[in-house]
Amino acid sequence: MTTKSSNKSFHNAKTAKKDEFYTQLTDIEKELGHYKNHFKRKVVLCNCDDPRISNFFHYFSYNFEQLKLKKLITTCYKNLNPEIFSQNKFEKAIYLEYTGDKNGDKIPSPDEIGIKPLKGDGDFKSIECIELLKQADIVVTNPPFSLFREYVAQLVEYKKKFVIIGNMNALTYKEVFKLFKENKVWFGHSIHSGDREFGVPAHYPLKAAGCRIDDKGNKFIRVKGVRWFTNLDYEERHEEFILCKKYNPEEYPKYDNYNAINVDNTKDIPCDYKGIIGVPITFMDKYNPDQFEILGNEYDLKIPKGRGYINGKRMYGRIFIKNKKL
Ligand SMILES: C[S@@+](CC[C@H](N)C(=O)[O-])C[C@H]1O[C@@H](n2cnc3c(N)ncnc32)[C@H](O)[C@@H]1O
Repeated sequence: MTTKSSNKSFHNAKTAKKDEFYTQLTDIEKELGHYKNHFKRKVVLCNCDDPRISNFFHYFSYNFEQLKLKKLITTCYKNLNPEIFSQNKFEKAIYLEYTGDKNGDKIPSPDEIGIKPLKGDGDFKSIECIELLKQADIVVTNPPFSLFREYVAQLVEYKKKFVIIGNMNALTYKEVFKLFKENKVWFGHSIHSGDREFGVPAHYPLKAAGCRIDDKGNKFIRVKGVRWFTNLDYEERHEEFILCKKYNPEEYPKYDNYNAINVDNTKDIPCDYKGIIGVPITFMDKYNPDQFEILGNEYDLKIPKGRGYINGKRMYGRIFIKNKKL
C-alpha cells in the first residue's frame, strides 16, 4: 500500500516524541559519497542508532576500509539488544566499537565488533556519551527530531564535524538559523526536493498519508521536507546559481514595512538587483556563500509586525539576502 507523502510526519514526531524513523541505506550512500575525502583516519560516531540495525552503522562498518576510517563508535538509546530496533523499553544501553576487518573477509562480523555496556540509557546528553563524543571527529546520524535543537547545540559546543538528517524546517529555529547565516552549517548535497522513505517500527500506527508495508511486514513512511545538515564542505555548494531574470519594480515589489524586494521563487532572483531581497527558505537549497550574503530573517532584522507586508498583505516568512557580486 502506497499513498502520498506526508510532510506532517516529522512535525508529528516532534510533538508526539515519536522519534523512531529509520534512514534508508540508499539515502545514506547518496549523501555520504560526497564526503569521502573527509573520513580518512577519522573516528566516526553514530550516537542515535540501534547499532547493528542502523543503516549508518551498516554503511560505515562495510565501508570502513574504503573510507580508511580509524574507528566507528555507535551508541543506542534504551536498548540492550544490538540486533533489534529500540522500543526504548530498557533503562540501560550499549555501544559498539569497530576498528576494522581483522580476518580479511571485509565483512564486519560479530566477533570483530566490540559490544560494551553503558552505565546509563545512552542519552546523547549523558556524561558517558559526551565522553564518546569527545573522541569523535565526525558525527553522522538521524537524531530524534523532537531533540534536534539540543542535538545540534551539543555538536556545536564540542566543535564537531557532522552530517545529520532532519526536517528542513529546523532551519527556522533561531539557533539553527544563526549557524546557517554565519556559514557554519549548510544543507547537504543530495536532497533538495521531494520526499524520502523512512522505516518505522512495527508498533507504529500507520495513519498518516504516505505509508507502505512491504511483503515482509516492514513498515515505511514517506516524509517531505527532509534535508541533510552538515558542516563538511563539498565542491558543488560553491557553484554559481545562474540567475536569468532582470529586476523591474512591477514584478518585484518592495515590502511596505522593509526596504527589500519580495521574490516568491528562488529561481526568479533578479541578477542585477543590488539591494536587499526577501526569498523563501528553499533558497537555502541553492545558497552559494561566495555569491550571496544572508542578512537574516524577520526576527534578526526586527522587521515591524514580524513579517514583510505588501499592499497590506502579510507575506510568507523570508530570508533576506544580498548579491555579493554586484
Ligand atoms: C529518527 S531515529 C533515527 C534512528 C537511526 N539513527 C536511523 O536513522 O536509522 C532517532 C533515534 O534516536 C533515539 N533517541 C531518542 N532520544 C534519544 C536520546 N536522548 N539520546 C540518544 N538517542 C535518542 C531514538 O530511540 C531513535 O532510535
